Amino acid sequence: MKKYHFKEIDSTSTYLKENYLKFDNLTFVSSDFQKNGHGRNNRKWISNSKENLLFSVLIKDKELIKRYSSISLSTAVCVYKMLLEMDIKNIKIKWPNDVFVNDKKIAGILLESVSFGNEIEAIILGIGINVNSLEFENDLLNVPTSIYKETNKKTCISKVKRNMYKKIKKMLLKSKKDDKEYLKIIRQNNYLKDKEVYASINGKKQIIKVIDINEDNSLRIDIDGNINNINSGEITFHL
Ligand code: BTN
Repeated sequence: MKKYHFKEIDSTSTYLKENYLKFDNLTFVSSDFQKNGHGRNNRKWISNSKENLLFSVLIKDKELIKRYSSISLSTAVCVYKMLLEMDIKNIKIKWPNDVFVNDKKIAGILLESVSFGNEIEAIILGIGINVNSLEFENDLLNVPTSIYKETNKKTCISKVKRNMYKKIKKMLLKSKKDDKEYLKIIRQNNYLKDKEVYASINGKKQIIKVIDINEDNSLRIDIDGNINNINSGEITFHL
């Protein structure tokens, strides 16, 4: 496991995407500041310098690449466990990759793939955790919060980083063994469970009711009384 840190970078995920051939499996890249941090659905991920934890992990192991959908959920569980250790209450995971505390978003996870022909060559796992920010850009869909806001204490970003690196490395090595502990944790702390929400499914906006998360990591939803199973790439949530 190699670790790199930048004072400033375009985006830790873009950097790994552009340089994946040069680096080994499980290379971690963090930065104090990102000029072009991005999230899901082309949203920006904005963070003042040295306030929050911003990092990405390069995954090249073919066995791990096959476990794409479970890596997204298991990473959310790593964040969940870290927050629990800090005595934070009411932590929920919003399928497939957000972590909420008291109904506000504290962390976002983004998985991107690098393909060559039809083959996925690498996955870039990007994670942003709001640690010490007190003010945020407006986000109507997900109201943001931070560890500082939830605990009233400033937290050392390097300490959170060391803890997360350890948890993610352990999770990635374990996830090859078909361990389903993460599913149990997600199901018990499923932010969307029994909620009616607006969502676009394959481009069509509708109200759906979330039932549960399936064994294959898809979301079980009710659309007008019909049960459907949806993968993360097929759905976008709205206000
Ligand atoms: C989301 O909630 O939409 C996912 C946000 C992911 C943000 C992280 S910050 C580190 C890495 N670099 C990026 O540009 N994005 C991810």
